[in-house]
Amino acid sequence: MTRMAGKNVLITGASRGMGRAHAVRLAEEGADVLAIDLPGQESEADLAETVRLVRELGRRAVAGTADTRDFAAVTAAVQAGVRELGPLDTIVANAGVCDNPGPSWTIDDDVWDRSIDVNVTGTWHTIKAGVAEMNSSGGSIVVVGSTAAIKAVPGASHYSAAKHAITGLAKTLANELGAQSIRVNTVHPGAVATPMTINPATFARLRPDLENPTEADVAEVLARRMLLPVPWVEPIDVSNAVLFLASDESRYVTGLQLVVDAGQTQKVA
Ligand SMILES: NC(=O)c1ccc[n+]([C@@H]2O[C@H](COP(=O)([O-])OP(=O)(O)OC[C@H]3O[C@@H](n4cnc5c(N)ncnc54)[C@H](O)[C@@H]3O)[C@@H](O)[C@H]2O)c1
Repeated sequence: MTRMAGKNVLITGASRGMGRAHAVRLAEEGADVLAIDLPGQESEADLAETVRLVRELGRRAVAGTADTRDFAAVTAAVQAGVRELGPLDTIVANAGVCDNPGPSWTIDDDVWDRSIDVNVTGTWHTIKAGVAEMNSSGGSIVVVGSTAAIKAVPGASHYSAAKHAITGLAKTLANELGAQSIRVNTVHPGAVATPMTINPATFARLRPDLENPTEADVAEVLARRMLLPVPWVEPIDVSNAVLFLASDESRYVTGLQLVVDAGQTQKVA
């Protein structure tokens, strides 16, 4: 219960899905949380619930609204949070999007740009704003990639290209920040049971053979892609990997790509 005691953590995309799971898991281990997500009624209501869950654990939590594409907005939200919590020890750059546009040569510019802007530029903005507010004794940055950073994703090259890009960003940052005792690692989740995967558009991409694929139809094909007998992992499984990289247990681990995918990327066809 104390693996994150005394640490302040910035998490983007904290309204729901894995971002919320990271906030709760790190708070369970003693972290105080600056939770950032998009402005908007639904997102802010979800963010308030994340804050409530963290506070219920007896930890401090501050909500900040910003679109990570907007550097001024991210900076303002980070600075406001740090005024309340104090300097950051950990940054979890988690916010991301994945549309299902189809083959590369059919992707519209606006869909392509959104993927690059949120997944790449938003991640860079988060780290740029966060590093300026980090504890002078060092810290940990966890970039949330994807198995799409390692493997091709037919029908979603905009996402695969973006996730490959932030892996390069993370590896470069690990070199640039090591001397300041700031570690930078990437977590690559495989399929995870969050709204990003459990939705009709993703079901349609994964089961193009069916007119109205259900969750069970998708689970069937995904399970065949894994080494372990599951169709996807749960958010908590990724949060536990984030926790390891955020805590001092990984104090000499930097530049790592930690894959949490039930063996999907290692499966021999
Ligand atoms: N779900 C999966 O199968 C899966 C697999 C591999 C990697 N990932 C990655 O994990 C991360 C979290 O995904 P998730 O499954 O929890 O998705 P999700 O869609 O459930 O949650 C993503 C959160 O990010 C927020 N967000 C999106 N764009 C934003 C922006 N511009 N500024 C601020 N916040 C923004 C959303 O509002 C949402 O709260 C993402 O980076 C995603 O690419 C997801």
